[in-house]
Amino acid sequence: MGTDVITIAPAASIRGTISVPGDKSITHRALLLNSVARGKSQISGAGLGDDCLSTISCLRQLGVQIEQVAKHEFIVHGVADQLRESTVPLNCGNSGTTMRLLLGILSSIPQFNILYGDSSLTNRPMGRVANPLRQMGSSIDGRQNGNLPPLAIKGRSLNGIAYHMPVASAQLKSALLLAAVRANGTTIINQPAQSRDHTELMLSSQGINMTKSGNTIKMDGGQEPEAIDVLVPGDISSAAFWMILAAIHPDAELSVKNVGSNPTRTGVIMILEQMGAHISQDNLQIGSEPAADFFIKSSSLRGTTISGAEIPLLIDELPAIAVAATQAEGTTIIRDATELRVKESDRISAMYQGLQKMGAAIEETEDGLIVHGPSCLRGSKVQCHGDHRVAMALAIAASLAEGETELYGASAVSISYPGFWRILHEIQSV
Ligand code: S3P
Repeated sequence: MGTDVITIAPAASIRGTISVPGDKSITHRALLLNSVARGKSQISGAGLGDDCLSTISCLRQLGVQIEQVAKHEFIVHGVADQLRESTVPLNCGNSGTTMRLLLGILSSIPQFNILYGDSSLTNRPMGRVANPLRQMGSSIDGRQNGNLPPLAIKGRSLNGIAYHMPVASAQLKSALLLAAVRANGTTIINQPAQSRDHTELMLSSQGINMTKSGNTIKMDGGQEPEAIDVLVPGDISSAAFWMILAAIHPDAELSVKNVGSNPTRTGVIMILEQMGAHISQDNLQIGSEPAADFFIKSSSLRGTTISGAEIPLLIDELPAIAVAATQAEGTTIIRDATELRVKESDRISAMYQGLQKMGAAIEETEDGLIVHGPSCLRGSKVQCHGDHRVAMALAIAASLAEGETELYGASAVSISYPGFWRILHEIQSV
């Protein structure tokens, strides 16, 4: 558990025009998909959080030349299926996306590799990815019969499968698509609900044919992606912290520029609007992904219920939404969100503990949270559980609380948002 401490004082007001780091999910995919494509590509606006750096270092270890030509710009020299076997285990750090998508890619490469991560990643479920990849012909082993890292993978010639995913996970779907593209025969993937579709969009731009009907994707194997340049929009999952802070702070007006607004990611906007937030947006288009400039100001929120197919569309924003719920009139119910228990930390329990300590009227349920608002939050000592999104959610709660809050383990923000504290400082007057 982190012992590093950051102290946050309440903000008197929130003002400014800001931009957020490049989308983490799209940056991972731009790096991974272009590494195994034919040709050279340029990635601009890349997110530089520790998770994306883990992806870059694993790919370099696998023999891909990735040049950093400017702060947020990389040139990737794609190697198609000619990845090199790594002589050392591949360190995925804290990043589930790195590990799961690499499992999909390495499944069809006839080499032996070992993937490991930090103490959080070492306890996250990988069986959901390993099982269908084994059905396709890959050999994956690890602790708990390949459910927990470190994982050893030996790629083989794969065969397509028809697979019904037990969870609506974009990481699982992406791993299967990345394996399917080089498999023999056809792969059919059925998802229980729609999750982020960046992999599908990027593979299609790379010339890969697939068909989509409802929540089912069908792809023929034996295809080769072509390298494409990617302009990465800002990360809505990072922007969400500022949008929510602006919506719940009594004196706030904030513009957040160039934020990815792919409809499989904008659940947070939909829910905030449903809760009564004043949000306006000007639409843009960044490459194959939609984006928008957002303007948000102080709002009177009311409680709502978030459940079912809405959950995958805002899964990473739920810690921050729980903070919004503490300031909303009435009850907010978050359910069907058991997946939150297997993120970088158990986010249901972490947010319950943190917000309860700060004075919120909050209940923990098996698959979510119930928050009775509004409540006046008070500064306290709270634990971030080494989880970047818990740290940022508690930081915005702290900006609104009475008195100072000490956040323990808050340095984890660098996983997705290295500049978070600087922006928090810039937009607030104390
Ligand atoms: C991600 C998908 C989500 C999300 C994670 C990033 C991705 O995880 O929580 O932060 O980039 O595909 P799951 O696919 O496991 O739900």
